[in-house]
This record gives sequence, structure tokens and C-alpha cells, in this order.
Amino acid sequence: MKSMSLLLVVACMQFAGAANAQSGAELAKSKNCMNCHELDKKKVGPSFKDIAAKKPDEAATIAKLKEGKGHMKVAASDAELKTLVEYVMSQK
Ligand code: HEC
Repeated sequence: MKSMSLLLVVACMQFAGAANAQSGAELAKSKNCMNCHELDKKKVGPSFKDIAAKKPDEAATIAKLKEGKGHMKVAASDAELKTLVEYVMSQK
């Protein structure tokens, strides 16, 4: 019985995690990316469309944002960074 209820708790946690996953657009707003970027206009940084058009390497871009090399350091988890970069790259 004990293991059954434990299983249930784990299942609930996974469900809550999925429900909490933010979309790329929401994350970009909440992480203040949009202070410097717009989807299709140059602001402080290039537009997300311009960035996507250059098709930079996804892993390298994540590393750049994570380590703050050539870009301001972005405070986000690996999963969030992946979502953000995928969101940027999906702009066309
Ligand atoms: C303080 C302003 C500022 C903020 C905030 C900002 N950026 Fe940038 N970003 C820039 C500038 C300027 C560039 C162009 C120069 C460069 O590549 O660093 C850039 C470039 C980029 C690039 C292209 C990098 C490449 O390798 O070509 C990506 C992707 C990017 N930003 C994503 C983000 C994301 C995601 C966020 C939010 C977590 C964010 N930026 C927040 C200023 C900003």
C-alpha cells in the first residue's frame, strides 16, 4: 500500500511539472528578453526573426546565454534556456 501512494505522489508531481512548463513566449517575457529583443524589429539586440534567419547552432547559443559569453548572462535553468532558444529559432 505504501508504495502505491508513493507512486501516486510521484505521478502528481510529474503532472504539476508539465502544467508549470511555460511556453517560449511567456518565458521570454518573464525573463525580460523582450526588454532588449522584439520578434520582428531590432531593439537593443537583433530581432528574434533575424537571429533565427542566421540559424545559429542551438547548443552553442544555449551555452552563450548560460555562460554570458558575448551576451549578458541569462539566469534560467537548462530546460528554460532550451525552451527560450527553441522559441527564438522558431521565429520566421
Ligand atoms: C540587455 C539587453 C538584452 C537582454 C535582456 C537580452 N538580450 Fe539577447 N541579445 C542582446 C544583444 C545586444 C544581442 C546581439 C549581440 C550578441 O549576439 O550578443 C543579443 C543576441 C541574442 C541572441 C543571438 C546570439 C547569437 O549567437 O547570435 C539570442 C539567441 C538572444 N539574444 C536571446 C536572448 C534571450 C533568450 C534573452 C532572455 C533570456 C535575451 N536575449 C535577453 C541583448 C539582450
